[in-house]
Amino acid sequence: MPSVVVIGAQWGDEGKGKIIDYLAGQAKVVVRSQGGNNAGHTVIVEDKKYAFHLLPSGVLYKDKVNIISNGVVFDPEGFLKEIEILQSQGVDTSNIKIDERVHVIFPYHKKIDALEEEARGDQQIGTTKKGIGPCYMDKIERSGIRLGEMLDKELFKERLFYQVDRKNKIIEKIYDSQGFDKEEIFNTYCDYAEKIKQYVTDTTVIVHEALEAGDKVLFEGAQGTLLDIDLGTYPYVTSSHPTSGGFCVGAGVGPNRLGEILGIVKAYTTRVGHGPFPTELFNETGDLIREKGNEYGTTTRRPRRCGWFDGVMVKYTARVNGLTGISLMLLDVLSGFEKIKICTGYEMDGKVIHHFPANLKTLGRCKPIYEELDGWDEDITNIERYEDLPLNARKYIDRIEDYLGLPVKMVSVGPKRSQTIVRETLF
Ligand code: GDP
Ligand code: IMO
Ligand code: MG
Repeated sequence: MPSVVVIGAQWGDEGKGKIIDYLAGQAKVVVRSQGGNNAGHTVIVEDKKYAFHLLPSGVLYKDKVNIISNGVVFDPEGFLKEIEILQSQGVDTSNIKIDERVHVIFPYHKKIDALEEEARGDQQIGTTKKGIGPCYMDKIERSGIRLGEMLDKELFKERLFYQVDRKNKIIEKIYDSQGFDKEEIFNTYCDYAEKIKQYVTDTTVIVHEALEAGDKVLFEGAQGTLLDIDLGTYPYVTSSHPTSGGFCVGAGVGPNRLGEILGIVKAYTTRVGHGPFPTELFNETGDLIREKGNEYGTTTRRPRRCGWFDGVMVKYTARVNGLTGISLMLLDVLSGFEKIKICTGYEMDGKVIHHFPANLKTLGRCKPIYEELDGWDEDITNIERYEDLPLNARKYIDRIEDYLGLPVKMVSVGPKRSQTIVRETLF
């Protein structure tokens, strides 16, 4: 199959950017198809570090087409800033295409996101305040403004003025805050449109033609399965579908076009934002994982909550995505722990369960049941071949494979492109 889908199989930040960058070397087209600049994907090549929020993580290769497809919510200001930073780092950004159907994020979306978070008080979701939820709300409500429409000045003015009037009423009357000047937004966004129009097209045609020609296409997930609006830990989720089905709608391809569905999984678990997390560690071990793994958000710099690998959860995300393999990330962070734990069941009100509960209150009552494995002391960051990993590290991987019933096809032992062990070539 000429396509590989890269999916976050936990709560996001699994290391998708690193794997996309690695696999993009063999691909012709890279497609981001959901979410927006709430994502933060880190790529380290040699000693240079790049952070992608909206742009596909294949951008570092000059000869790849990088697509932002129809399912994305698009912040023009964020996009232009990201392009500018990359250009200043010497990256060629001319090979980017944006679908004319993407919904545009406006300042009122960001403001409502922040105001709504404040209003939730202790029920906060912990959003990135990038306006993602409010923009998707408009899309579903059918009042959103798409990028193609933003390029048509007359139509844009009519749609925008109507929207700003409505949003100002909400901001002023519900949140008791200050609304926006529609002329000002219009002028700013017309400037953005001038700068962005060169990238805008119907990207579904490019993806279709590439697949028809047998070219290799890489689909880049943002966020993670447990942040999916339907299948995640609702309401502590994002507003899109970071699951395999989401790629079909978000990029305009049929399910039979998805080949390898690779789940990106940390060797432990992290989460940013609020919501239940059964294997979360509130002790020194959790702090040590955070420090060793540098677990601070790429987008918001918030400290990530850390815990042991949750097999019950990944078995669930494997099922709802139809994963065909795993890339196990940040294995190096676990070097030096005497014992390493894997959660293989939950105890819930005295009963043992092996499925991931849909009900958050139930999930909140789940206590992890652990299997304990022996750790290893060796520094593994320079290891290039699977066979050279310490025996206990291989035993850990074997147990994960065995428990999930899925092959670990790649193992990541450091943040750099070069620190990747490939057990099975995907393209
Ligand atoms: P993404 O959102 O899924 O792309 O992941 P992030 O980039 O937000 O977070 C993953 C973090 O782990 C980044 O800082 C990466 O540079 C880093 N990283 C990725 N793979 C590895 C690895 O194998 N080992 C270590 N130590 N860091 C890694
Ligand atoms: P990447 O692609 C981790 C989380 C936020 C919050 C919830 C809703 O880097 O893995 P939103 O702003 O989307 O409405 O926030 O989702 N969240 C992420 N957590 N990684 C991400 O992206 C995330 N994108 C959103 O922290 O809990
Ligand atoms: Mg991230």
